[in-house]
Amino acid sequence: MKTQVGIIGAGPAGLVLAQLLAQQGVESVVLEDRSRTYVEARIRAGILEQSTVDVLTEAGVGDRVHREGLRHDGIHLQWPGHREHLDFSALCGRSVWAYGQTEVVKDLINARLATGHPLHFEVSDVALHDVETNRPRITYTDRDGVAQTLECLVIAGCDGSHGPSRDLIPSTVRHTWERTYPFAWLGILADVPPSTDELIYAWHPDGFALHSMRSPTVSRLYLQVRPDEDITSWSDDRIWSQLAHRLDLDGWQLHTGPILEKSVLPMRSFVNTPMRHGNLFLAGDAAHIVPPTGAKGLNLAVSDVALLARALADLVVKKDGARADAYSENALRRVWRATHFSWWMTSMLHTTGDDFDAQLQLSQLRYVATSRAAAASLAENYTGMPISDDGAGWSGSDPDHT
Ligand code: APR
Ligand code: PHB
Repeated sequence: MKTQVGIIGAGPAGLVLAQLLAQQGVESVVLEDRSRTYVEARIRAGILEQSTVDVLTEAGVGDRVHREGLRHDGIHLQWPGHREHLDFSALCGRSVWAYGQTEVVKDLINARLATGHPLHFEVSDVALHDVETNRPRITYTDRDGVAQTLECLVIAGCDGSHGPSRDLIPSTVRHTWERTYPFAWLGILADVPPSTDELIYAWHPDGFALHSMRSPTVSRLYLQVRPDEDITSWSDDRIWSQLAHRLDLDGWQLHTGPILEKSVLPMRSFVNTPMRHGNLFLAGDAAHIVPPTGAKGLNLAVSDVALLARALADLVVKKDGARADAYSENALRRVWRATHFSWWMTSMLHTTGDDFDAQLQLSQLRYVATSRAAAASLAENYTGMPISDDGAGWSGSDPDHT
């Protein structure tokens, strides 16, 4: 079999890339080792930046997010006795959308299957070959157990944090940066309407808590816990009472309901460079991981492939390699900004057990809540850097700045 772009992984990165390429007349084959049911049910992030919604719209899969996504024009920052609202539209003229990654993935799979272009689930033994040549190949076993070879012009490694693509970059050129945090999140999905209009990010001496949501009837909430936390020691009652305690505010009440899912998420920052080696291009979690505090993981995956789709279309259709040559550097500029922002949010909001740290965190929270400049900086980063391949940042995003 032959294709122009072999895409490994049917997460948001691989699926959005496939859509954007198809629109530009570039052929691709998507290979995924899990089943469709598994991929569609995997519960992950749920906040989309405006530019992510724009890319989904451009990719032809924006209808449902526009219809069902919940637009958020700000967040609440909380610490004991205080809940302060940051108004993103006033601060930077941008918004975010609450819409689950599960729904994004369902929309993308439906769109891909509707085009009739290949998307193969339940493949195994995926291996990459000759990525430094003009004839890279992917070998794999299909779901019927038949060995297959896919000859490509380029390979897109969109295979997440545990996929094989990254390891094809030789150690002589590859560099990785990593930070593991001394805490994790216990996340729940609950069948109860959100108790808040906007997300609440709460600092508390007993640990961070976050109230998020997926729809007008489903809430998503998180608690800071130890990295080795045993989830079996968290009964539903214990989870709700800790959430109520850490999110407590006079005159406000947390509504509780049946817990549909609970899990512990490790927290890690990780960046792999370069994001291109020969004719292998990495995108999304295959190249970088962020802690969930700034809700950047899904958005970075989408912005990577927005840049990559343009670069690959130029390369494959026009035989112009300029954008492909610049891909790694351009993508990494956004990656490092998001890596810094999610590290900063994480550092401001999670208790470490150290009193000095706690005083610095509270001072930072008061500063963000009272200084327009500090609040605007959070708002700009939270709503996301515009996607551009010429390095342009946020210029012009301030509604008061003409
Ligand atoms: N062969 C084929 N597919 C693979 C292989 C393999 N050897 N290894 C991994 N995959 C698949 C995974 O099963 C997964 O479906 O690659 C896909 C990668 O998808 P994601 O992990 O969702 O990564 P990405 O598309 O980069 O999206 C990043 O997902 O992890 C969240 O928080 C993260 O929101 C962010 C987003
Ligand atoms: C989520 O809804 O899953 C979510 C929201 C905001 C975050 C992280 C996760 O910062």
